[in-house]
Amino acid sequence: MRGTVLVTGGARRLGKAIADALRACGWNVLVASRTAPDAAVAVDLAEPDAPSNLFAAAKAVAPDICAIVNNAAIFSQKQDLPPDELSRLRAVNVDAPRALTALLAANGGGAVVNIIDCHALGAVRDDNTPYLKSKRDLLAATVEDARALAGRVRVNAVAPGPVLPPESCHERAGSTPLGRHPTPQEVADAVAYLLSAESTTGAVIPVDGGQSLAIEQLLMKFLVHTYGCQMNVRDSEAVEALMLAAGYEKAAGEAEADIVIVNSCTVRDMAERKAVGKCGNLIAAKEGRGKTVAPNVKVVGLMGCAVKRMGADVFKSLPRLDFAVGPRRFGAIPRLVARCLAGETRILELSGDDEVPTGMDAHVGGSSFQSYVTVLLGCDNRCSYCIVPDVRGHEYSRPAREVVAEVRALAAHGVKEVCLLGQSVLRYGVRNAAWSADDPPSPGGYTEAFPRLLEALNAVDGLERIRFTSAHPKGCTDELVRAYREFPKVCRHLHLPVQSGSDRVLKEMGRRYTRVEYLAAVAKLRAFDPEFAITTDVIVGYPGETEEDFEATRSLMDEAGFDNAFIFKYSPRPGTRSAALPDDVPTSEKERRDQVLLDDQERRGQVRNERLVGTVREVLAEGPSLRNSARWSGRDGGNRIVVFEPREGVRTGTVVKVRITAARPQTLIGEIYTPIPSFS
Ligand code: 5AD
Ligand code: SF4
Repeated sequence: MRGTVLVTGGARRLGKAIADALRACGWNVLVASRTAPDAAVAVDLAEPDAPSNLFAAAKAVAPDICAIVNNAAIFSQKQDLPPDELSRLRAVNVDAPRALTALLAANGGGAVVNIIDCHALGAVRDDNTPYLKSKRDLLAATVEDARALAGRVRVNAVAPGPVLPPESCHERAGSTPLGRHPTPQEVADAVAYLLSAESTTGAVIPVDGGQSLAIEQLLMKFLVHTYGCQMNVRDSEAVEALMLAAGYEKAAGEAEADIVIVNSCTVRDMAERKAVGKCGNLIAAKEGRGKTVAPNVKVVGLMGCAVKRMGADVFKSLPRLDFAVGPRRFGAIPRLVARCLAGETRILELSGDDEVPTGMDAHVGGSSFQSYVTVLLGCDNRCSYCIVPDVRGHEYSRPAREVVAEVRALAAHGVKEVCLLGQSVLRYGVRNAAWSADDPPSPGGYTEAFPRLLEALNAVDGLERIRFTSAHPKGCTDELVRAYREFPKVCRHLHLPVQSGSDRVLKEMGRRYTRVEYLAAVAKLRAFDPEFAITTDVIVGYPGETEEDFEATRSLMDEAGFDNAFIFKYSPRPGTRSAALPDDVPTSEKERRDQVLLDDQERRGQVRNERLVGTVREVLAEGPSLRNSARWSGRDGGNRIVVFEPREGVRTGTVVKVRITAARPQTLIGEIYTPIPSFS
């Protein structure tokens, strides 16, 4: 028997789990609670004398009290609490735990663990302030006590973030990070560890899937910097959610960040240099050299595609980097941060080519009405110029059931538009099955995995729009076209990278289609809706690209009538097939071709957009436009930017009808449409 632990608040699932875990470790447990039926001492901690009465009563039952777990908590979902409720909250969550800690210090000492268990910890309001202030107060008080009372009591905290999944919580919708939450058992195990002799004040313990401990560190703020594509934007969001769930706070900017994580891209040389350069600056700031961009920074980590490409060489470029983690291992980041805070540095964790990341369903929540959802990881296409398969690994399709559950949770938290992500998203379900035999059959008789996913998502309540990116023409099947036609939530837009219009170059690139086949896919999509929006990526200056090849790209772009196009100058990437070819188109020529295509697209965009003048578009309002805040902007189903004058009652995240009055190459201008009443 190790002595007695006093546990406050024992009625909830978490309290029970803690008591059981401690008993299993040989502690005698005394539960003090206002409501638990088996409590040894019944108290209301909000009463002024409660802590001393409680301590005396507990001592009378068990004289050998040597530890306290402060697990009492008042939950409130209100943002603006009336003063009496606030003071009650403070009494229970901040003042009583501190008083109990002081009493233990005066009575022979021991160990204290404060549970900062409010599911709203880590959640922030729209203006980025913490949701429940007193919980952070408790954390601050814990840190203070740990310093002041060191030697007499060991004070620690467990801040598991939201312990219960959001559906079972009574919190304000959207305020809690979504995704995997620590189970009561995981939290209880952490508490048991903190009470054990191995732990010290401020110990750091990873609790899988949500953590975390380490008091001073929990007051730290993190920032994620993102380079690269939507995949990276999405991975960064998941990392933010995991860090919030681990108890850290999001920094408003670099100036206040303690931990900075840079998410890197390596698709072109320039992209990689930017991310590595950013890390270099941050490390210099950490060491007090260079411009103090981030005066508080203590941990600098690099994640994403460039890490996988560089491997251990990352430390040649960045010798004092704290950690580097591959693109399919971002779920480890809270744990790596904790290790770095405990003093480790130069940690490298590359992800495997078939690794399935953890934390993929974690979302920040909050007020956003749009969300990315990763459905297909990796890429098996192996185009000659592309490094993505080397860095993002093999294809893995997430089970449809998991994707549908994630989208449902997002929609329940106010998300109106999801964009499904995959490097070649129409290959969903090809390498591994996405649907299993026990999933309900497709109501519409869809047999292909991706259209069937669209069917299932179209049925999600509250969701208004479904997008996806990027696509390969081989995936433009009849079933996909049928899904576009049948499901109103599926936006009539496809990002269909063509890369080149020359059959010779396409063959060299290993794209597996000809110009004619590509144009056939375009025609198929526009056949049922002439306004169907098609956007593309093009590479100029591929090895051996002649003037004739380039002119073929120009003419293809005209024939396809792209609504928008992203032009890239060829950049050889180490290890790709084309890197063995001479990069023989001079930079100045690449720049010229780039500019020609951009000018063409500008003209084409103008012509295409003019056709829409007079039509009424359904626009998802995104808020004040960046250029002119008196106007709002949003996007139509074709992903076209639409600028309009807002009206009373128009809110961010709602779909409004806008009549187009003018066109620009990249924007439509319009006014909110009010139908003329019918008198018939
Ligand atoms: N050089 C230039 N552009 C590239 N892309 C991919 N690899 C390279 C490269 N080595 C472009 C392709 C792709 C987009 C995301 O980046 O057009 O569709
Ligand atoms: Fe960059 Fe490609 Fe990685 Fe996206 S997948 S971040 S574009 S290298």
